[in-house]
Amino acid sequence: MRTQVVIVGAGPSGLLLGQLLHKAGIESIVLERQTGDYVLGRIRAGVLEQTTCDLLAEAGVDARMHAEGLPHDGIELCFGGARHRIDLHALTGGKRVTVYGQTEVTRDLMDARAAAGLSTVYEARDVALHGFDGTAPSVSYTAKDGSRHSIDCDFIAGCDGYHGVSRASVPPGAVSTFEKVYPFGWLGVLADTTPVSHELIYSNHARGFALCSMRSPTRTRYYVQCSLDEKVEQWSDDAFWNELRARLDPAAAAALQTGPSIEKSIAPLRSFVAEPMRFGRLFLAGDACHIVPPTGAKGLNLAASDVRFLSRAFMEFYAEKSSAGIDHYSDRCLRRVWKASRFSWWFTSLMHKFPESGAIGQKLQDAELSYLVSSKAASTALAENYVGLPFER
Ligand code: APR
Ligand code: PHB
Repeated sequence: MRTQVVIVGAGPSGLLLGQLLHKAGIESIVLERQTGDYVLGRIRAGVLEQTTCDLLAEAGVDARMHAEGLPHDGIELCFGGARHRIDLHALTGGKRVTVYGQTEVTRDLMDARAAAGLSTVYEARDVALHGFDGTAPSVSYTAKDGSRHSIDCDFIAGCDGYHGVSRASVPPGAVSTFEKVYPFGWLGVLADTTPVSHELIYSNHARGFALCSMRSPTRTRYYVQCSLDEKVEQWSDDAFWNELRARLDPAAAAALQTGPSIEKSIAPLRSFVAEPMRFGRLFLAGDACHIVPPTGAKGLNLAASDVRFLSRAFMEFYAEKSSAGIDHYSDRCLRRVWKASRFSWWFTSLMHKFPESGAIGQKLQDAELSYLVSSKAASTALAENYVGLPFER
């Protein structure tokens, strides 16, 4: 078998790359370890930057996002028993975000790939990368029926997430990693209830952080900060709703509609970056080379920005016989990755209760929050980052 680009991983990064390459007439094969249903079963964040929406449009997968996605012009910060609106739209000269679940983005990309008759191998086991330091890379795998296959290609795109094989295939001396693990997690609940507010509420509370988000006008996604040793089974629905209510201002607490959970899970919080993002003919994108804590919902948007640079680099290579895009890929991505990592770390640090920082930690957060909502400069810095920083050349 031979193709131009082998894409490892059928998460949003791999599928979006495949779709953009297809639009540009570049062939790819996607190899995925799990089943399609498994990939769709993962509940992730749901806030898209304008540039991510634009890229979905370029890939031809924006119809349902436009029909069902919710444009949001602001967010609310809750602290000291009151909510304060950050007017993203006014502070950024007209930018906004779109609330649309990552699961739905993935489903749209899967449907588009199937409709175009493009090849995705699900349940591919023991994927192995070969020869990416030379000019003739290949990728081998074991198919569902137990047969072993090998695909020759020009390039390999490692879109296989944090636990994938791609980054692990690089000699350890060739990659530098930077990591911070936060001393808490997020307990998330999905429920068919009416959102407590029409915009997202990020709450800093003495009991810990809480976030009220949504998937649609009738489906909510709520989170509370929890400790890392807690188990999801220990949290009844009632206990979750009571804890969330306790971390909101009185008006939101009174308006909070509760109901049975459809999904409940605990996620750890981590900042992680691997540098560089290119090794010869292997290119890493998305969670394979960076993880941000979910505060600010940058994960999917950063994955999309990598894929934007990578798709353009391959287009330049094939259409213009230029390797400039490929050569600049890692540096271009990493500038944006570090800025989004910085923002996600800052927003996480501002909004969560840090067990070790004690009473002074809470006082300093209170002062920063009060400054943030009263200073146009500080609110603008939050808004610019929240809606997504512009692309640099
Ligand atoms: N072989 C084949 N596929 C693999 C392998 C492997 N060895 N290892 C992992 N995969 C697959 C996973 O099963 C998964 O479906 O790669 C895919 C990676 O998908 P994601 O983890 O969703 O990563 P990515 O596509 O980069 O999406 C980034 O996901 O975690 C969120 O916040 C993050 O929103 C961001 C987005
Ligand atoms: C979500 O809807 O899951 C979500 C929204 C905003 C965040 C994180 C998660 O900052």
